[in-house]
Amino acid sequence: MVSYKRLNPEDVQFSSAVLSEEPRPVQEEVSVSLCLEPSAVIFKTAVRIVTPQTSQTGVNNTAAASRREVCTLIPEAWRFDCYPERGVVVTKELCEARNCCFIPASSPSSAARPSGRNGIPWCFYPPDFPSYSLVSINDTSLGQRGTLAKEVKTYYPADILTLEVEIRHETDSRLRVRVKLSKEPFGLIVKRSSTGAVLLNSTVAPLFYADQFLQFSTSLPSQFIYGLGEHRSTFLHDVHWNTLTMWARDVPPMEQTNLYGAHPFYLAMEEGGNAHGFFLLNSNAMDVVLQPAPALTWRTIGGILDFYVFLGPDPGSVIEQYVEVVGYPAMPIYWALGYHLCRWGYNTSDSAWEVVKNMRNYGIPQDVQWNDIDYMDQFMDFTYDSSKFATLPDMVKDLHAHDQRYVMILDPGISSTQPEGTYWPFDEGLRRQVFIKDAEGRTLIGKVWPGLTAYPDFSDAVTHEWWYDNLKRFHEKVPFDGLWIDMNEPSNFLDGSTNGCPSDSLENPPYTPGVLGGLLRAKTLCATAQQKQSIHYNMHSLYGLMEAKASASALKRIVAKRPFVISRSTFPSQGMYSGHWLGDNRSQWKDLYTSIAGMLTFNLLGIPLVGADICGFSEEPEEELCVRWTQLGAFYPFTRNHNAIDMKPQDPTAFSPLARTAMKQALLLRYSLFPVLYTLFHHAHVHGHTVARPLMFEFPKDVKTYGIDKQFLWGKSLLVTPVLDPGVDYVDGYFPEGLWYDYYTGYSVRSKGEELPLQAPLDKINLHLREGSVIPTQTPNLTLWVSSGQPLHLISALSDDGSATGDLFWDDGESIDTYETNQYTYIIFSVAQNVMTSQVLHNNVEATYITVELASFYGVKEKPSRVLVNSQDASFTYRENQVLTVADLGLNLSQNFTISWM
Ligand code: NOJ
Repeated sequence: MVSYKRLNPEDVQFSSAVLSEEPRPVQEEVSVSLCLEPSAVIFKTAVRIVTPQTSQTGVNNTAAASRREVCTLIPEAWRFDCYPERGVVVTKELCEARNCCFIPASSPSSAARPSGRNGIPWCFYPPDFPSYSLVSINDTSLGQRGTLAKEVKTYYPADILTLEVEIRHETDSRLRVRVKLSKEPFGLIVKRSSTGAVLLNSTVAPLFYADQFLQFSTSLPSQFIYGLGEHRSTFLHDVHWNTLTMWARDVPPMEQTNLYGAHPFYLAMEEGGNAHGFFLLNSNAMDVVLQPAPALTWRTIGGILDFYVFLGPDPGSVIEQYVEVVGYPAMPIYWALGYHLCRWGYNTSDSAWEVVKNMRNYGIPQDVQWNDIDYMDQFMDFTYDSSKFATLPDMVKDLHAHDQRYVMILDPGISSTQPEGTYWPFDEGLRRQVFIKDAEGRTLIGKVWPGLTAYPDFSDAVTHEWWYDNLKRFHEKVPFDGLWIDMNEPSNFLDGSTNGCPSDSLENPPYTPGVLGGLLRAKTLCATAQQKQSIHYNMHSLYGLMEAKASASALKRIVAKRPFVISRSTFPSQGMYSGHWLGDNRSQWKDLYTSIAGMLTFNLLGIPLVGADICGFSEEPEEELCVRWTQLGAFYPFTRNHNAIDMKPQDPTAFSPLARTAMKQALLLRYSLFPVLYTLFHHAHVHGHTVARPLMFEFPKDVKTYGIDKQFLWGKSLLVTPVLDPGVDYVDGYFPEGLWYDYYTGYSVRSKGEELPLQAPLDKINLHLREGSVIPTQTPNLTLWVSSGQPLHLISALSDDGSATGDLFWDDGESIDTYETNQYTYIIFSVAQNVMTSQVLHNNVEATYITVELASFYGVKEKPSRVLVNSQDASFTYRENQVLTVADLGLNLSQNFTISWM
């Protein structure tokens, strides 16, 4: 629950440690409740209820005239909405009944919002709106704990009048911030001591802390706000009266709508390139309101107010700190990074198999073949259609024989209408009581593809065991390698259940956030449904996370390798268990563009294994779009072409030789970059780094990078500039200040921080290397299994001073916890003063079968007279464009070596 409080500053004595600018040692680790499994917890501020008090009547005796005057003084951008309810025409009477200011927008054309979701509110809080006071505060070992009290009830039922506030400083890296409680009204202010930037100031609007309505607002230090998934939007959020609602929902991505996942986390930029993050650990339905002040309001309808502030100070560090709390992303099994082919509407296993064979015949890389619900017998989980998919086990065998893998879909809904004794998953589920129950304790029945279905309750350990048993039994028939978990918002073709839902304050809360459909139960289960850990009202947006956890752990037991799971619905900490695809996009150029923002946002959210359906899910792409999409998709961390039922085939073999060749080239390029990508995932897993990275992460002082979502980086050094428009053979790309090299040719371009036009014929995606980097690439092949044994080619892009660095993480690609158990090799490459050194820092995996055959150096200013490899003369070539190449090296990767020139 939440509240604003009025603090009498004289009441509060801050401990000198809190006010100190000196770092303090970490004092304690605590664990976070809910489903998070933090390995450590960071500076956290938690507010919770202590003693609910008896109610009092709300009173506001401000004289009407002076009230009006005060109201008009509040600038529009700073008006905080006092009447967020949708579908209500807010009148003066309604507004004043809440003791709020009523000022209709002056012109109808202005961005006014009498009752809609976006715009300047007509009804807003006056400065003296009742809020909480801090009545006592004490130091604790980690910070402070105090009591907040309010005398006047507000207009939502079950207002809590007494609250406890706790402030904890959990790691020393956060103590460069000054935390203080303000005076009148109460609020929390977090300032960065080095710059004075105010990261959080909750005094800007009243705090609400009622049973089903918790709200607090804060000013923001800038308009540069990112994160807050899952929504379709630009990467940089619009703060002009933009409400982002969170409540997991099955709906094709569209703007201003709550989508499949819920991620109450934002990253904010400050003046001068600093950044911080904010995470509200709350799974209830909520609105997040952005307004141009700039300010942000959290408005949730349950749980408690429990939030973290991450102090960065750079954007990458903020994400590391966030991921440290919610859990580091899993290290993917190597083939997860290959090319995946899927569609809904392979009518037979033979037709899917045919595509696989055609791909092989054309020499197009493919690691994984998928099946959608078509494979099932009447769309029932853990079955397959023994006539149309009779050859499914043979296809899987054939995939395995070619070092390829098989992934199948599973939906959570379990058919509930089969004759008893004919469908083990349901019979056994009933016996073990794994299904979600309705408010009266009966199995809740909804409807999905197989007709009427029951929903496994993944908040119960018993259900995990039942899920595992089902998977194990099915794996004996079809030895799948990975799982695609769909429809897990959870989706329901009915609203609530076959019996509807009760009519109470959970189903119809005093305030309903702006969820699509207007009701919490819209196309999902009743809010009153009962799960082991809580009511669905609280658990809804956690369904995908819990299913992913059950699926990953079952798969790990079955295949004894790193589990591969891709989930549609997600919640913080999802990256530990699964990746994500961006859902049911369309085969349109706009969807090609928005996929970049989606991919970058999920990288911020600790789920780096993410991609959109390449070539678009619904509708049919023109050939040019599918080529451009395959080029961009080759740089999604998770690369899958997926298509809707009844749409024309859109796999690479379905197109003209020209298009097919361009797609093949893009995929071979991805496969050649596998060592880079794999190493980036290692850093995501161990440090919480992003894989696909926004430019501003590497150039936080360059404000021009803040809005860029048409380009992105892999790691710190590979700049991807895709074509996102039809009919063009060039693309404009922004190059932050410095030296950049064309990846393919080594030609350099020196940028002052400007946009440059680039040639982009249909068979090319622009790729540039940042100065100062060394990247390991590998001769590509048709599968990553084969590619990963191929010789390496090291490319060094030298800085002006001739230096560069890079690294490589290598292991067997599939064993569990290789880093944690020290079963890996880690190599650092560095170039300085005409000498490249390869230094093997860890060598606990046999990588001697891999050789380094080729080394290219971009930016060697003068032609060398000699090149030495491990002190032996070697032949080389040097081109006009300052590229030095040394071939036929035959160096053993697991041994240190040097290459020098003079
Ligand atoms: C919805 C998913 O988003 C889509 O990818 C899938 O093809 C269909 N369900 C059918 O299973």
